[in-house]
Amino acid sequence: MLPSAILLALAVCGQLVVGYNPRLATTQCCRCNDLQPDNAPLTSEPQRLPSPFHITVNRRHYNPGEEVQLNLTADSGNVFRSFVVVAYRALEASNTKEPVAVGSFTLLGNILVEEDCLSPKGKALRSNDGSAKSLVKLVWIGEEYYGHIQFRATFIVDDEVYWVREKSLIIKDPTAPPMPVERSPPKIIDPINTAECGDKKGCYRVPEGCWEPYCEYIATWKDMGQIVLFEWSAITEGLEDRYVAIGFSNDTYMGDDSVMECVHNSFTERTEVFMSYNYGSPNKNVRLPNPKVGIVKEEGSLYNQRVRCRAWREKFPTGDSRVNDLTGQSWHMMIARGAAKRGVLQRHGAGAGAIPAVSPEKISMQRKSNIGGRASYPLVKAHACLMFLAWVFFGSIAVLMTKYFKNMWPNRRFYEQRYWFVAHFNFMAMCFLLTVIGFILIFIEADGYSEFPDLPQRAHPILGIIIFICVLINPILALIRPDEENRCRPVFNWFHWAFGTIAFVLMIPQIFIGMDFGKAMVPWWATWIVMLWALCHIIIELSLEVHQCCTHKKNKERRKKYEHQKRENPKLYIPEPEPAGRRFKRFMLFLHVVITSIVTLIMIIVFAVA
Ligand SMILES: *[C@@H]1O[C@H](CO)[C@@H](O)[C@H](O)[C@H]1NC(C)=O
Ligand SMILES: *[C@@H]1O[C@H](CO)[C@@H](O)[C@H](O)[C@H]1NC(C)=O
Repeated sequence: MLPSAILLALAVCGQLVVGYNPRLATTQCCRCNDLQPDNAPLTSEPQRLPSPFHITVNRRHYNPGEEVQLNLTADSGNVFRSFVVVAYRALEASNTKEPVAVGSFTLLGNILVEEDCLSPKGKALRSNDGSAKSLVKLVWIGEEYYGHIQFRATFIVDDEVYWVREKSLIIKDPTAPPMPVERSPPKIIDPINTAECGDKKGCYRVPEGCWEPYCEYIATWKDMGQIVLFEWSAITEGLEDRYVAIGFSNDTYMGDDSVMECVHNSFTERTEVFMSYNYGSPNKNVRLPNPKVGIVKEEGSLYNQRVRCRAWREKFPTGDSRVNDLTGQSWHMMIARGAAKRGVLQRHGAGAGAIPAVSPEKISMQRKSNIGGRASYPLVKAHACLMFLAWVFFGSIAVLMTKYFKNMWPNRRFYEQRYWFVAHFNFMAMCFLLTVIGFILIFIEADGYSEFPDLPQRAHPILGIIIFICVLINPILALIRPDEENRCRPVFNWFHWAFGTIAFVLMIPQIFIGMDFGKAMVPWWATWIVMLWALCHIIIELSLEVHQCCTHKKNKERRKKYEHQKRENPKLYIPEPEPAGRRFKRFMLFLHVVITSIVTLIMIIVFAVA
């Protein structure tokens, strides 16, 4: 026990002395399935600029048992601290999610390395000692022919700066058939120059003022007389095929928009520009019969997750009236991105990261404007505010009152009604009213019922309608509520409870799904505020529930005594018994109202302002 503890301590100290680097505090190299670093800070992501670190090899083909020398090198002035290097079959490396390592490495030199990502056919080499490295010399040997192979390496400089899955040249297996497409390294077109924005050309960028490698979306335009030069790009995720498209719209909604697509097709290895058109209700994008109408010249590339195109377009091409006229009108510019299949656009989602960026104002292609930001959707915001107020504030308090406060204040009346009933009735009426208004608003916004391509957004309208029906039924039930003594009263109570509970239970996921809609533009941290609120609500309900159980017996006895007294002296006024633990209940109610009011206020401000 003791010796091993000492060894461990020594090892930790040794690690600190050799490898301590304040900027490499948490990151470990690397996961086997995708070579991403482990424990990197959540805010960090792989670098998008070309890597200063390379894998060089001394030969372009291999035989079993033959050494392939490779160097991990750094451009001058750069060092990396951790790395992992692995050999994959070249086809697997780019086409499968979890390629397996083949062959094994030996290190020439003396840094601390270990073997990793063991597979039946091979293993990776990994170093995590944290020392600064600019050249690592290695030898790779395969035991058999694996087919053409390719080395991949991840280089970590510190917690924030790292390059993932950098590629080597392909090392050929002389016995294997040639690679299906002899891929020449993809041509990368020049980056978009953002220094000219607002001065020599017009730009729309999200985030505002970004430099192209860090732009989520960017589109620029330059008036050249008969022709406008467009450049646009976006970061895209996913497997090989994706697109970024710019649309010109008269409003901030999809439908009736002329579109210029920039699509990467991994079969042809080309990134091309096509003209298409967005139809509204139901929304769909259709490529024009002549997809190159108006395009004089074009180029495009996909590199490091960024799809980029450059197109010289006639201002007013003849041949298809669906292509917009760039001479007079101004347009809301939309930039959409998403997946493509064999060069054909797939529908983009409606979530926070997936909805297109839409310019807040209309843009003229003759002006050298420099704008950023996104169009906002006031009806969506109003819907969010109303629904939040209705359910989180009025709904939750009304539910609490009816569940736990029926026997509080037994001798007080407000216009002959008990307090809990007054609160429940009025708050539910408010909830009903706000829900109806919110429901109508969102129907106006969506121009009817909208269907979304994927979950969870897809569930929002469906859940919304179920909740709405429950909300409509309950007041109708309340109108035909039978007397307290009536035989049907328990049936009424049961249905009233069931519809109310269904609505309230569905509302919780509904709120979270709603906040994920891109058009609501809710910042990510707002979700945490609502989660905290939900947690508080659950804790308060649970403690009231437990409290109710604990005081149940006592209250029952008091009630019995009261009924007994009443029977004995029917003429006398005897006040109803106060329930046990009133102070605790009052405090919980107070706590809930305060927390809920604060959260509601914050969220309404967030919805309205964001
Ligand atoms: C690796 O680096 C050494 C020393 O700089 C050099 O002699 C050797 O040729 C390099 N090998 C490869 C495969 O680049
Ligand atoms: C765009 O909207 C304006 C008013 O909002 C309207 O006058 C104009 O005709 C519309 N243009 C097109 C092409 O629909």
